[in-house]
This record gives sequence, C-alpha cells and structure tokens, in this order.
Amino acid sequence: MTRKHNFYAGPAVLPLYAVTRAQEAILEYMDSGCGIAEISHRSKYFDEILDGSIATAKKLLGLGDDYHVIYVGGGASMVFAINALNFCKEGKKAQFIDSGTWASRAITEASRTKAQVDVVWSGKDVKYSHLPEPEDLQFDDDASFVHFTTNNTIYGTQFKKFPQVKAPLFADMSSDFFSRPIDANKFSMIYGGLQKNLGPAGAAMAIIRKDILENIPQGLSEMLDLSVYVKKNSIFNTPPVFTIFMTNLVLKWLDEEIGGLANMQKINEEKAGLIYNAIDSSDGFYKGAVDVKEHRSLMNITWRCKTEELEKLFLTESQTHGFMGLKGHRSVGGLRASVYNSCPMESAKTLADFMNDFAKRNG
Ligand SMILES: Cc1ncc(COP(=O)(O)O)c(C=O)c1O
Repeated sequence: MTRKHNFYAGPAVLPLYAVTRAQEAILEYMDSGCGIAEISHRSKYFDEILDGSIATAKKLLGLGDDYHVIYVGGGASMVFAINALNFCKEGKKAQFIDSGTWASRAITEASRTKAQVDVVWSGKDVKYSHLPEPEDLQFDDDASFVHFTTNNTIYGTQFKKFPQVKAPLFADMSSDFFSRPIDANKFSMIYGGLQKNLGPAGAAMAIIRKDILENIPQGLSEMLDLSVYVKKNSIFNTPPVFTIFMTNLVLKWLDEEIGGLANMQKINEEKAGLIYNAIDSSDGFYKGAVDVKEHRSLMNITWRCKTEELEKLFLTESQTHGFMGLKGHRSVGGLRASVYNSCPMESAKTLADFMNDFAKRNG
C-alpha cells in the first residue's frame, strides 16, 4: 500500500480509523450476513448507523432537541437549490455575504426565486482575497434569512467571527464543518457537503432548527421539501447508505479519538501553522494568496510562487515526492493545500519541509 500525502480539496483524505473499519464492513457488516454497501436502509443496522451519526453530530456541536440533523443527497449544491425553494419569500429580503464562488452559487439559486436578493458585501472586485469584518455589515432584522460561507475553499479565506443577526442565520460550512468549536445554537441552518471533513462525496448534512420548518411553503416536490427529510428521518427515498456509514465513523473518530472540536481546532491550527510558516519564512519566495492574515483559512491554504514556471516545477516535484492535490483551483491557479481534519500531522510536516527545501533550491 502506498498512501500518499493527500491534499485534495474534496473528496479528501479520510481517517484510517474509518477507512480500515470500512474495509472490513464492505465484506460483512457486523453479524448482518452482508456487506455495508449491500444492506437495506430499512434494517436495524442502518437505523443504528443513522441515529448514531445524528447523536454524535449533535453532541459535538452542543445541540439539543430543538435541532434536526438530516442527510441530503446531491451535496451542498442541492442544499443551495432547496434553501432557495424552502426559504426565499416573494418580496422579502434574502441577504448574502458573497465571499467566493460557492457563496455566489447560493446567491444564484436564490435569484431564481421572487425574493429580493440582497448582497450585503461582495469580494468579487478584490478577487475574494479577503473577507469583510462581520460587525461592519448591516443586516435586516426581518430578512427571510442571512446566508454566508464560513470557509472559502477556493480562495483560502475563513471567517473567524460570525455575523450577529436577528434574522435566521444560515451557513454553508462545507469546507470547515466540525473543524472547530462554534456556537451552533446561533444558527437556524448549518449545512455542508460531506466530502471534505466528514466522509465520501455525494451528500450533504444539514442541521436545522425546528422553528424554521414552519416557514416552508406547501406544495413543494417532496424531494425538495426539507420538512419531508425531517419527517422521514432522511429516508423518504433510499439514502446514501455507505456514505452515511462512513460519516458515522468519522464523527466517532472525532468524538472518541480526537476528543471533540476544541482538540480538533488545536491540531488544525498546528498543521496549518506549519505550512503558513513555510510561506511566511520564505523571504518572499512564496506569497500567501489571502491579503489579511487573520482571514487565512485553517483548512485550505492558498499561495503563489513568483512565476507560473516555478509553480509548475513545484507541482511536478511535489508529485514525485509523494504529495497529491496541491494544484490551486482551476479558476484561480497557484497552489493550494487542503489540510482538513483527517489530514495527518505528518503530511503537513512533510509538506512544510518540502516547501522549505524547494524555496532554498530555487530562490
Ligand atoms: C464551501 C463549499 N460549498 C459548496 C460546495 C459544493 O459542494 P457539492 O459539490 O457537495 O455540491 C463546495 C465544494 O467544494 C464548497 O467548497
């Protein structure tokens, strides 16, 4: 087996704790007589997995009975569309912070409705190289919702402080889900694609405060109605059984092996610190792509070399040294290391060493 240092932005590296258990379960899950990808979603085995994942997610975030946790096939992009249909109201404001490509996608979906879409701040003109300070922004108390993206996967920015609003607060947390403690009770809806911090691709987890379900209009197609997901405990249709099985394992790892979100944050700070230090101590050989240091992401680290030729050489050499996924997103270029929860410390250390050495040899 030659598992490399995996820095892909998602699907991304998963903890060996989950991968090795999945390896066994593929053949036969517990005493069920069949593999986990072959088991009924109506079996007691899957009930336990689904309910276990919900309980651990709530425990990690400190949430009680006033929140539901559901899985939505189709990923975070499906939730963009569902949110627009469920919560945009004709003539009422839906307010957004446009901090990057994914935030813009959520805005585009809302713009298809009759809501009054209000982009309170956009980083488009500065190529999303920094974020606003949330306390400087004005939000309406009676907006249908305020939506923002906590971590911008492509640009490498991350909100360290969240907007304080009276309207229901929605957050796409796809790329920093469960990576640090948050005051989850301040949110009406948190969601994210699973493929970065939680499991395989293909579905999103959404955490919804019960009271906002009342705002959903009647008559939506059932697959697009969040109250149906809640009523049917995510099994209105056949859910992604294997993906949820893996997510349950990753959440267990986070809870039992890592010891919760505060510990996870410390580890993430240390990993990201190693790589940011390689950038900042390179005497200008590398340049961080984010303008404001406080806005740098602990999950997606973005940087440039002085020339595109050097970046190409960096990528070629990095591959021969056993690193994967260091190319920046195709829309922005440059270099990016995604150091999600499951990225081992060893990978971050080895990358920082490689970066230091590469800078020395080519500076
Ligand atoms: C912050 C963010 N939101 C949404 C998405 C879209 O997720 P999905 O591919 O699950 O639809 C991504 C994908 O990378 C993302 O990084």
